[in-house]
Amino acid sequence: MNWKPALSAMKPYKPGRSAEDVQKEYGIPKIEKLASNENPYGCAPSVRNYLENAHIQYEIYPETGTPPLRTALAGLTGVEESAIILGNGSDDLITIISRALLAPGTSTIMPVPTFPQYAHNARIEGAEVREIPLEDGVYALDRFLEAIDDTTAVIWICTPNNPTGGLLPSVEFREFLEKVPSGILVVADEAYFEYITDSSYENPVGWLSRFPNLIILRTFSKAYGLAAFRLGYGISSPAVIAQLTKVRNPFNTNSLALAAAGRALEDQDFIAHCRQENAVQRTRFRQFAAAHKLRILPSEANFVLLEVPMDADEAADLLMQRGYIIRSGNLLGTPGWLRVTVGTATQNDGFFSALAAILEERGHTG
Ligand SMILES: Cc1ncc(COP(=O)(O)O)c(C=O)c1O
Repeated sequence: MNWKPALSAMKPYKPGRSAEDVQKEYGIPKIEKLASNENPYGCAPSVRNYLENAHIQYEIYPETGTPPLRTALAGLTGVEESAIILGNGSDDLITIISRALLAPGTSTIMPVPTFPQYAHNARIEGAEVREIPLEDGVYALDRFLEAIDDTTAVIWICTPNNPTGGLLPSVEFREFLEKVPSGILVVADEAYFEYITDSSYENPVGWLSRFPNLIILRTFSKAYGLAAFRLGYGISSPAVIAQLTKVRNPFNTNSLALAAAGRALEDQDFIAHCRQENAVQRTRFRQFAAAHKLRILPSEANFVLLEVPMDADEAADLLMQRGYIIRSGNLLGTPGWLRVTVGTATQNDGFFSALAAILEERGHTG
């Protein structure tokens, strides 16, 4: 068969080990998974109650034009419905953007390390991927501008960035947008938007009238605690959304997800509670790192990147044996670091004890 050439160098997505699998192998009664930046508090109880009694017609295709969720999101974010596109997770929107704009002969610019799906989709489309290294965990936007040429179609900005956790400061982001040619789509992936507490952060939705070539991606998978439902959304100018909508599969979001997300949006108290609790727990990670003289990057998300004085794969393995699944940075482009989802107070207590014990066994006195 005549497969796209890019596929020969690719491997399918390899999910991390499941809690059940680790539990069986090590015979540990309880496994804590702090690996995928899910919400440790789950979804709002109001969503669960609602779904138990919701009357969803399983035999009918989901609403695809302007489902009530699109209207609700427009209301919440202060834009027109025509400025919103829904996706099967924000992953789907990354694919849609790539399909719509990338092809052989085009190029796309992104930081490294970052969320791998931008490069993955770009390569499938045959586009040239230009990766600009973060400098000490910070965006080097001048390098981004230098990398732009006539072939550039999409620029990816992940903020807070996964796996480093830091924000691109709003002032820098706006100045950058002023300099990017208006024919290039700039994607602001804000999967962790709801967790941001930095008071200098400006919501980029307010910039859309000035920069119609900006699209903001958000998701119900993180703070809303609905990763299983697969629902993300994009906010941009109606002209951009109209083009992307041509590429979107008509029934890319399902009725259960639309209903759950609609109810979840109504419970902003739950989101505020998660944001606040996450910020308290994130501070505890900083305190733990300081007490053990480990480097940690400033995070505005619900995960942190923490350096360990040993091989990160080995540290991840030792933590797994103690019941904590986290992500080794070796495969995330941050060798020697661990990416850990900020859990509940109890989960974090356990994680801190496990890592402290491993450090002590290794003679790391801090
Ligand atoms: C930065 C970023 N973007 C997008 C996604 C995809 O999220 P989803 O497809 O669940 O909306 C993730 C998931 O981890 C992420 O970290």
